[in-house]
Amino acid sequence: MSLKPSINLEKLPKHIAVIMDGNGRWAKEKGKNRVFGHKSGVGSVRDVSEACAELGVEYLTLYAFSVENWNRPKLEVSALMELLVRTIGSETETLMKNQIRLKTIGSLSSLPKRAQEQLAKVIEKTKDNKRLTLCLALSYGGRNEIVEACKSIASLVKNSEINIEDITESTLNQHLYDPSIPDPELMIRTSGEYRLSNFLLWQAAYTELYFTEEYWPDFNKESLYKAILSFQQRERRFGKTSEQLKAL
Ligand code: FPP
Repeated sequence: MSLKPSINLEKLPKHIAVIMDGNGRWAKEKGKNRVFGHKSGVGSVRDVSEACAELGVEYLTLYAFSVENWNRPKLEVSALMELLVRTIGSETETLMKNQIRLKTIGSLSSLPKRAQEQLAKVIEKTKDNKRLTLCLALSYGGRNEIVEACKSIASLVKNSEINIEDITESTLNQHLYDPSIPDPELMIRTSGEYRLSNFLLWQAAYTELYFTEEYWPDFNKESLYKAILSFQQRERRFGKTSEQLKAL
């Protein structure tokens, strides 16, 4: 029986972030190569995006390629880039049909030209879609993002455009890769690893973390429903006491 009807649609996380992990191990267990695992992971990307759009989740951010992933074997890196270009191209119609807007965060200028062009094309084509924003973190590093934000703020100070005393958390927020995306309420990591791995370090300050043993290619709509149900059973206190929250 599906878990979907048990979800309280009034208490949905507005933004879900996912560390898609375990493609390589999934493939190895099947006697296949790592790229086969990544290709199979695309099915889960499709499933989870569709499930978020159907439920009414507004933002979904997927950790598709970290800055550290550039250190993987050359062949795997180029296969991942090729997969990205091909998938974005072949899924454009599905994005349009489901009213999904594509966005990216990360150091995009490090990606191959073809990938940059393909992304720019699909971002432009889907920019007015309103149902779900699908944000791909590409060549992304949380520490990098914070360093870049600090550099932009420092240059504003240098040019006397703002005073040091006026720098707040909101100033830093405004200099992240995409300030329009709210902090994630729920972050999911697959494959039984319990780390953030440099993902959304600033934004995850109050994010609820959910870990599952499932490898990413096995993660499907029901897996997502289970994660959302776990989120909905938690009490988010933001530093307050349980009693204070109940009095609200
Ligand atoms: C982690 O598994 C996964 C990645 C580094 C890449 C994720 C990419 C995809 C699912 C496909 C392309 C995505 C889009 C959005 C089109 P791993 O290789 O670290 O697995 P392991 O830990 O078992 O080695």
